[in-house]
Amino acid sequence: MARKTFEHLEGQRRRPDVYEEVTAYVQWGETFRDKFPTLPNEGANYHFPEHYKLGYWDPTKTRWKSHQWESFRDPNRLTYRSYHEVQSEREAALEAVLAAARSEHAVRYLDPEWVETLRMFFAPMRFAEWGISMAHQYVGRFSISSLVTNPSILQVFDELRHTQRIAEWTHDLETEHGGFGGYRAQWLEDPMFQPMREYLERVCVLRDWGEVVVATNLVLEPLLQRVLYRTLSDLGNAHSDSVLPHFAYSVYGDEERHWSWAAALAAMLNEESDENRATTGDWIDSWTPLALRSVEALAPVYSIVGKEPVFDSALAEARNLAADVLESAGVTGVALQDRPTVVGGETS
Ligand SMILES: [Fe+2]
Repeated sequence: MARKTFEHLEGQRRRPDVYEEVTAYVQWGETFRDKFPTLPNEGANYHFPEHYKLGYWDPTKTRWKSHQWESFRDPNRLTYRSYHEVQSEREAALEAVLAAARSEHAVRYLDPEWVETLRMFFAPMRFAEWGISMAHQYVGRFSISSLVTNPSILQVFDELRHTQRIAEWTHDLETEHGGFGGYRAQWLEDPMFQPMREYLERVCVLRDWGEVVVATNLVLEPLLQRVLYRTLSDLGNAHSDSVLPHFAYSVYGDEERHWSWAAALAAMLNEESDENRATTGDWIDSWTPLALRSVEALAPVYSIVGKEPVFDSALAEARNLAADVLESAGVTGVALQDRPTVVGGETS
């Protein structure tokens, strides 16, 4: 009888979909060992750790241990093709907003107080997005299964999209208002960015790809991106900014995918063993204090427009979101256990 799918996907209860067929068992290596003891091209020196010298796709590259790496499924089930379909729609929508703003010279009519606020934080945020993209290039290279590599590399594209759009809109702001060119010095020296810079620089030198996934997607991103989203959307709307609330909406959808795939991966591994659960918990506990400091340091953005209560509310929302994300990963973060009450949130 003719085969209906690849040999390695036969025998599943459900017939594999396109996502599984193009994503599972794509990296020939350790996860094939039991299933296919004789690999194609065996002896080509890149399949198993004992054969190759480059040292990737190797189970020792993370403290997480699993017998079922190839069972992981990204909840978003994206392939390169479906990712392009989704993102080209998003980009077209954002492009339409930018085109309208440019033809109507919207940047000219931003109020001075909001322009001053944007000068404080907007342009340097490109480095935060870029830092997360660099960290995930490492995950994509060393994670043991193509099922993990895939969402991680798609995330790299997302972070680059955010970086590029921040740079692009900064150019418009600089041309019209000036004072947006010092973003590198801000990132390197302004106290507002130093905890975040420390966080990302440390993440970028981690050797354990699992820890990178936890530190970025489960700890930092829910806290940081929720606050950033609120900042751009609530404060932007309050100041009649016709661009940045749309930008925030567009990129936040990407961020939700980032923590959802990481939480699903951690949940699978934590379920598999108490050792994994303890490892995940250790990572969360060691990264959460600096993540909180990174986000708390952004408070001055709100004080310049007299909206301190809005910042408190955004931070409380972010802490609750982060706690929810950890719960969905099957763990609790000690530093996030006291869930704050969200109050207010209006910007008028
Ligand atoms: Fe992200």
